[in-house]
Amino acid sequence: NTDNKDTGSGGTKSGDKLVIGFSQVGAESEWRTANTKSMQDAIKDAGHELKFSDAQQKQENQIKAIRSFIAQKVDAIVFSPVVETGFETVLQEAKDAGIPVFLADRAVDIEDDSLWVTFLGSDFVEEGKKAANWLVEETKDVKGDVNIVELQGTVGSAPAIDRKEGFEEVIKEHPNLKIIKSQTGDFTRAKGKEVMEAFLKSEGDNIDVLYAHNDDMAIGAIQAIEEYGLKPGEDIKIIGVDAVKGAFEAMAAGKMNVTVECNPLFGPQMVDLIEAHLAGEKIEKRVAVEESMYTMDQAEELLPTRQY
Ligand code: AHR
Repeated sequence: NTDNKDTGSGGTKSGDKLVIGFSQVGAESEWRTANTKSMQDAIKDAGHELKFSDAQQKQENQIKAIRSFIAQKVDAIVFSPVVETGFETVLQEAKDAGIPVFLADRAVDIEDDSLWVTFLGSDFVEEGKKAANWLVEETKDVKGDVNIVELQGTVGSAPAIDRKEGFEEVIKEHPNLKIIKSQTGDFTRAKGKEVMEAFLKSEGDNIDVLYAHNDDMAIGAIQAIEEYGLKPGEDIKIIGVDAVKGAFEAMAAGKMNVTVECNPLFGPQMVDLIEAHLAGEKIEKRVAVEESMYTMDQAEELLPTRQY
């Protein structure tokens, strides 16, 4: 598919214009919107053609999209898997068709790693550990129990599994840090609010900390806490993940305490990897995105510099 194509202004190192199929998770969060834009811009800027499919957080939609990319004989498939398991068959079909698959943002739990070229994304376990380490430091002088409620991401997704694992690994060393409720909020504001309302209904003033697997759920929960009559950021400490603008706004307003960065702006890095692979270069099986962590006191100063 790389021959007979208009070379355009960009292209691979050999000048070919590529057709890239991108199966995205959905549009569930600020993070996801920024990630989609980063990929779209990078593919366009490189002079390639994008075939985009939004799975609306449904695995069956992703399987259909990948099959359609295979039928269209794209040059490469970029794929952010909604969940970790159940993609063997369709990835084998891509391999049999000779189409390289690049995992973006989320990994798969599949033994045969010849089914994809590389995985470019964040270290979600590390993000969970960073969130917990902040809490350990923040509560080091607290003698009694610290009651945590957890809003998990999409059930079965890599970030939900790994952020929980990383967080629990750290807090298990501190027996007074207790997760008293844990439920999925599907990475959305609406679900985050709804589940936080249920947590407040059953636990009320007993809740000290909210650990949300992403900022959107944290922001939804902040609304629920205010409506309940408590002060988010004070009565209940709020920990989020992503470092989206909405979290910086909430932190600048004193309503959120910390957000662990998960950088969605890896479109250019992904295009480089695809081009390098198709040019015959050897690329690493795992490529990490660099990230940091931000607290309430940094929010006002950093907000204008945030790109997503
Ligand atoms: O896979 C990355 C996660 O997915 C982000 O943290 C979350 O906001 C998104 O929905």
